[in-house]
Amino acid sequence: MKEVRVAHIEELNKTAEEFLRDLDPEEKAVVVGLSGNLGAGKTAFVKEVARVLGVTGEITSPTFVIQKNYDIDFHGFKTLVHIDAYRLEKGEDMKPLKFKDTLADKNNLVLIEWPEKIESILPKATRKIVFETIDPTTRKLTFYGKDE
Ligand SMILES: Nc1ncnc2c1ncn2[C@@H]1O[C@H](COP(=O)(O)OP(=O)(O)OP(=O)(O)O)[C@@H](O)[C@H]1O
Ligand SMILES: [Mg+2]
Repeated sequence: MKEVRVAHIEELNKTAEEFLRDLDPEEKAVVVGLSGNLGAGKTAFVKEVARVLGVTGEITSPTFVIQKNYDIDFHGFKTLVHIDAYRLEKGEDMKPLKFKDTLADKNNLVLIEWPEKIESILPKATRKIVFETIDPTTRKLTFYGKDE
């Protein structure tokens, strides 16, 4: 477990870099749940991660499409998968998006907003970041590893 205080959104870049530094592909997709209230900074974090990974163009929240994929080339990861499960009710709702295939592909780095909504289908090794709003510009991020 690691806590990081992000005093201003401009500091998120450094936080995203540190998050990615030690991340390498495993046997299956690396999955990270992003938890926290509305406006806590989950999408802002994914945008920063995408930017560090060299994704160009607009990165928008997949609230309505649920999932967006971006081509990347980083430590062996080939695809950044951004999922926003806010509008879903249960794990089965991910079936039409072939979530099992997404999880089976070791080239995927999967970041999921509102993971609680689809908890029943998340792998045991899912990592977690909890986002908390401290004040209008400050957020606290708590990182949990796959075994925590
Ligand atoms: N230190 C900070 N880190 C991240 N975001 C910040 C920070 N300070 C201010 N913000 C602002 O907080 C908002 C975070 O919005 P964001 O869409 O990322 O939240 P979210 O957690 O994805 O919410 P939702 O659950 O609605 O998807 C943005 O407007 C961003 O500019
Ligand atoms: Mg969001």
